[in-house]
Amino acid sequence: MRKHIVAGNWKMNLLAQEAETLSNAIVAYIKQNQIEENTEVILAPPAIYLKELAEATEPFAKLNIAAQNCHQAASGAFTGELSAPMLSNIGVDYVIIGHSERRLYFQESNEVLRQKILSALSNDLQPIFCCGEDEAIRDQDQHEDFIAQQLKESLFDLEASEIAQCVIAYEPIWAIGTGKTASSEQAQKMHHFIRSLIAKQYGNDLANSMTILYGGSCKPSNAKELFSQPDVDGGLIGGASLSADQFIPIIESF
Ligand code: PGA
Repeated sequence: MRKHIVAGNWKMNLLAQEAETLSNAIVAYIKQNQIEENTEVILAPPAIYLKELAEATEPFAKLNIAAQNCHQAASGAFTGELSAPMLSNIGVDYVIIGHSERRLYFQESNEVLRQKILSALSNDLQPIFCCGEDEAIRDQDQHEDFIAQQLKESLFDLEASEIAQCVIAYEPIWAIGTGKTASSEQAQKMHHFIRSLIAKQYGNDLANSMTILYGGSCKPSNAKELFSQPDVDGGLIGGASLSADQFIPIIESF
């Protein structure tokens, strides 16, 4: 059975004290509750909190830490950036790569994302690779071609053993932070399509073993229905991950 994941992307939110309160609540929950056998919770805080959180969550196999981004180079003159070796060195487990906000505001191309994925993988970080179309692309019914292109250019050069380390997050841009969630049918259809592309490229076994998350206005009221779709293996949660009262019920939605 493939792994279920609920990941919280805090984006550029929370001051230190707030981050600590939230992470303490999640750690306490993980300590006190039996999480499903094949389920994992991931927190992606702002980089400044990564080391502390990686240390605090280290004893809990089902609670892991993700960075929100990394640079494609291992080191060098790239002021303001963080490299995959640095993240790995402080105990970070995953790195989100290709979030639509990075693509839009920081002009990250499919090619740069391909390089970031390679850097993450060669430093023992599991990429959470985000893909997703905007509203205009969906309105033109081009969304499947668009996603296929994103996957082809950033992921499909990987060896089977490498792509097996990746998590994919389908995040339709029109649903991110808008309160407008994809319907469970829309999510299922796209997740199934993504899995079929992986199957074509790498075979059924690998495709069936890969975790594909949904992201975009996922909240306690819709998580259960989304996660019950056969190809939806969990969620990448933005806004609702900023409060334990919202995030914990999403973890419990499986
Ligand atoms: P949202 O963000 O849950 O606030 O829509 C999801 C994401 O950007 O990962």
